[in-house]
Amino acid sequence: MARKFFVGGNFKMNGTIESVKSIVKNLNDAKLDSNVDVVIAPPALYLLLVREHLKPGLEVAAQNVFDKPNGAYTGEISVSQLKDSNINWTILGHSERRTILGESDEVVASKTKVATEGGIGVIWCCGESLEERESGKTISVIEKQLAAVSAKIGDWSKVVIAYEPIWAIGTGKVATVQQAQEVHASIRSWLKANVSEDVAKQTRILYGGSVNGKNCKELAKEEDIDGFLVGGASLKPEFVDIINAN
Ligand code: G3P
Repeated sequence: MARKFFVGGNFKMNGTIESVKSIVKNLNDAKLDSNVDVVIAPPALYLLLVREHLKPGLEVAAQNVFDKPNGAYTGEISVSQLKDSNINWTILGHSERRTILGESDEVVASKTKVATEGGIGVIWCCGESLEERESGKTISVIEKQLAAVSAKIGDWSKVVIAYEPIWAIGTGKVATVQQAQEVHASIRSWLKANVSEDVAKQTRILYGGSVNGKNCKELAKEEDIDGFLVGGASLKPEFVDIINAN
């Protein structure tokens, strides 16, 4: 079964009401390949605005969700609140949350469990630092991240994996097609060996890190690259070219 191409736009902490509305209008007006899942992740403050204006069929993701039911957790948003707002996806485990906000593999795994069990799709991010790559630890770092999440979740059907090498994020230094394909293939083999052959075949593995309108087509040709998680370029009109890259 062919895996449906998936393109996510992670706005991070960028945008204003006006600029977010204009990105949404651009997407609504564009001719998008209908065989692609498109999910955009604005800052939490703009989730409802985006859901209200974005045309049906295009999905909205939070950039984070908490792993507890509603209650006394100042500053957090729950899975049930996302569902109540028709926000069907969340990004989890982005390296900026792991490194700047101190989220451990276990915290990310716990959030992934609660989100998937609550019916929210998860764009689950993993990736190595430059130091880890240069010391030959790329695959072991990613396998450790995978093992933590795999120990907690049973249902992989709601998970899309995003491989984002930290050294390629926002740096303009995209991984080569070979570097990306190699890691994606390793992730798929890990899923086959440690979860199941079906999960390995069906799980979409996205590449993220300095993807733009120019480099997306080459990357999209690779067997194990099933889409992208796009940062900076998701704020620009070229995001449409990335959606249509396949
Ligand atoms: O989540 C997307 C991301 O971290 C990549 O960012 O700006 O390099 O496309 P960017």
